[in-house]
Amino acid sequence: MNANANQRPVAIVTGASSGMGLGITRALLEHGYRVVATSRTISKSKDLEPSADLVLVDGDIGKKETAIKVVAAAMKHFDRIDLLVNAAGIYIPKPFTEYTPEDFETMIGTNVAGYFFVTQQVVVHMRKQKSGHIVSISTVLVDQPLAGAPISLQVITKSTIPAFSRALAMEYVAAGIRVNTISPGVVDTPMHANDDHELLKKLHPIPRLVQISEIVDALFYLESAPMVNGENIRIDGGAHAGAKW
Ligand SMILES: NC(=O)c1ccc[n+]([C@@H]2O[C@H](COP(=O)([O-])OP(=O)(O)OC[C@H]3O[C@@H](n4cnc5c(N)ncnc54)[C@H](OP(=O)(O)O)[C@@H]3O)[C@@H](O)[C@H]2O)c1
Repeated sequence: MNANANQRPVAIVTGASSGMGLGITRALLEHGYRVVATSRTISKSKDLEPSADLVLVDGDIGKKETAIKVVAAAMKHFDRIDLLVNAAGIYIPKPFTEYTPEDFETMIGTNVAGYFFVTQQVVVHMRKQKSGHIVSISTVLVDQPLAGAPISLQVITKSTIPAFSRALAMEYVAAGIRVNTISPGVVDTPMHANDDHELLKKLHPIPRLVQISEIVDALFYLESAPMVNGENIRIDGGAHAGAKW
């Protein structure tokens, strides 16, 4: 962990109302972290109760004002930020030629602006602390697009994450800030309808969906590994390694 010995660490988690962000928020709280959890509708969440250790902040993460509000809440309530998890994201699957300008703006707005502004705000404080860790969720589709899968816009937005993370890892290494990526295959979250699960399992050489707990395990590994920086951990049953199975 990045925090000094006398304080429990503080995390910001985006996309915390559902799926991986929710699982990560719960696990961080169980491990003694204090958390600022954010999404557009998080204050209405039936899964998360605000407490002394958990602050909920509503907002569109693609807007700079949300990023400012989220980071201000972390500083007001906990006075430091040790970990940022960028988990907010959307997926609009369509054939390439059918994407509209609105689709483009929505996807860039959530999947790219959604990590850009909050990471910018967080780095300001991590530099002052001279420590911090940023972990963002990409997708293994970036490494292994599939014939028949309409993912071009997803790849445009998510392929920026590992490259951005490596660049930031170098820019701020002297400031004590690490920046890593987790790239899952298909994870069992509300993003995918249950009806699709049997088909989606076949996209992994190990023929099952990734569990949220496996994303959480990767996050805690990265938290406990101070020499791991600029890394991209793929959790996909080996899909990125092979061509056919
Ligand atoms: N599920 C997969 O198979 C898979 C695989 C690879 C990568 N990923 C990526 O992993 C991340 C998490 O996916 P998931 O499956 O856990 O998704 P999910 O269950 O659909 O949750 C998405 C989260 O993002 C939030 N969100 C969406 N748009 C937002 C916006 N404009 N502003 C703020 N928050 C917003 C949602 O909350 P609100 O609706 O309340 O805003 C929700 O908390 C995403 O970035 C996704 O692209 C998913």
